[in-house]
Amino acid sequence: MSLSRKASCDSHGQDSSYFLGWQEYEKNPYHQLHNPKGIIQMGLAENQLSFDLLESWLASNSDEFGFKTNGVSVFKELALFQDYHGLAAFKNALVEFIATMRGNKIKFDPNKLVLTAGSTSANEILMFCLANPGEAFLLPTPYYPGFDRDLQWRTGAKIVPIHCSSINGFRVTKSALEQAYNRAQMLNLKVKGVFVTNPSNPLGTTMSRNELNLLMDFAINKNVHIVSDEIYSGTVFDSPNFISIAEVVSHRKLEDNNINGRVHIVYSLSKDLGLPGFRVGMIYSNNETLVNAATKMSSFGLISSQTQHLLSHMLFDKQFVCNYIHVNEKRLRKRKDMMVAGFRDVGIRCLKSNAGLFCWVDMRHLLSAYTFEAEKELWKKVLYEVGLNISAGSSCHCSEPGWFRICFANMSEKTLSVAMQRIRAFVGSSGKCGNGRSNQRSTVKTKWVFKLASYDDDREPEDR
Ligand SMILES: Cc1ncc(COP(=O)(O)O)c(C=O)c1O
Repeated sequence: MSLSRKASCDSHGQDSSYFLGWQEYEKNPYHQLHNPKGIIQMGLAENQLSFDLLESWLASNSDEFGFKTNGVSVFKELALFQDYHGLAAFKNALVEFIATMRGNKIKFDPNKLVLTAGSTSANEILMFCLANPGEAFLLPTPYYPGFDRDLQWRTGAKIVPIHCSSINGFRVTKSALEQAYNRAQMLNLKVKGVFVTNPSNPLGTTMSRNELNLLMDFAINKNVHIVSDEIYSGTVFDSPNFISIAEVVSHRKLEDNNINGRVHIVYSLSKDLGLPGFRVGMIYSNNETLVNAATKMSSFGLISSQTQHLLSHMLFDKQFVCNYIHVNEKRLRKRKDMMVAGFRDVGIRCLKSNAGLFCWVDMRHLLSAYTFEAEKELWKKVLYEVGLNISAGSSCHCSEPGWFRICFANMSEKTLSVAMQRIRAFVGSSGKCGNGRSNQRSTVKTKWVFKLASYDDDREPEDR
């Protein structure tokens, strides 16, 4: 008997090189002693830098870990709890945590919050609530490769790319928004909204106030929704500061405008607290109907009450939270600087960034030609010969070949040093892809590299 169309079709979006790289890594993972020639995983946006802080909190709070509160067992309560509204204590703790992390600029109302099994689930639920099958959301490129699956596969919603360019550091511009909107219309797709990731995965940059204002104006004028995935909002380690779309609403006094019911925020503890395995995410919206529907849908992917119990205690611990935020930020900045300096030493530049767990790395000069085929060729060489799993820009739908997302926080400093040594050896030897032809290119740099290389000059979009 055959499976359903959904289960048997390949619209799951998981056949990109992004996921292939993970599979290759699994077959041959690097280990300093047991497999020193193995592949180093640099394609996973995971934060392992502050794990010791979480572990030491657990060690001194063993009660919460052992189903107890003030020495009294809460095992039965937790084992029986299955209300998909979630534990009130946990929602309150989450709201407090987010406020502290964002410098108390915005305080969420726990009643407008829907708990979900990570941002993956939150994003899909939002698509189910906002778009009918065949209706579209506009997404700035490059974007997180998982969105092809999370936003489209089960919901039938469509992604239409907003093509951003290295010329202005991949910033969102008014003309790029309009072009994407027109393209959707030409494809007969009704546009239901714009979906942004702020800070951006894979760019590692926060959206500027100008970009956010543009986005807001666009959503008001076109009468569409804004979804802002703010999963990296606490993973900002340099200026400029993170600005939430919620701050734009209050800054522009739009609370009573219709748009306030069309702005929806996604968050999760997977990145900022480094707990992707705990599956803790949320939707925040001022739209009551949406919150009601999303809460019902969340019953398909709840956070276990055990996890909520443990984290409500951890997040209510102000001293722990403040120390974690401070130390984590410092460690992330140091790690990113280490990677950027390593690349700079071998003539590879990274987009200027201030957030995230990765760098957006410009390897255009290492391509044998300015094509996506050449990018794939380089990606394969780096994976199989150099032994690094990095993510090709094409898997993030970047419209320019030669960019790669490279993660820096999912490994030890020692492993990162090994990775940088491998890169140095690769670039220092033949370096380039595509046999002997490449050596000529190292002396005769092609014109397009220079023409496009003004991306890190911090300019604001010209066409606001
Ligand atoms: C932008 C973005 N959204 C969502 C997710 C999924 O996160 P979660 O583990 O919370 O489902 C990721 C994970 O990498 C991400 O980068």
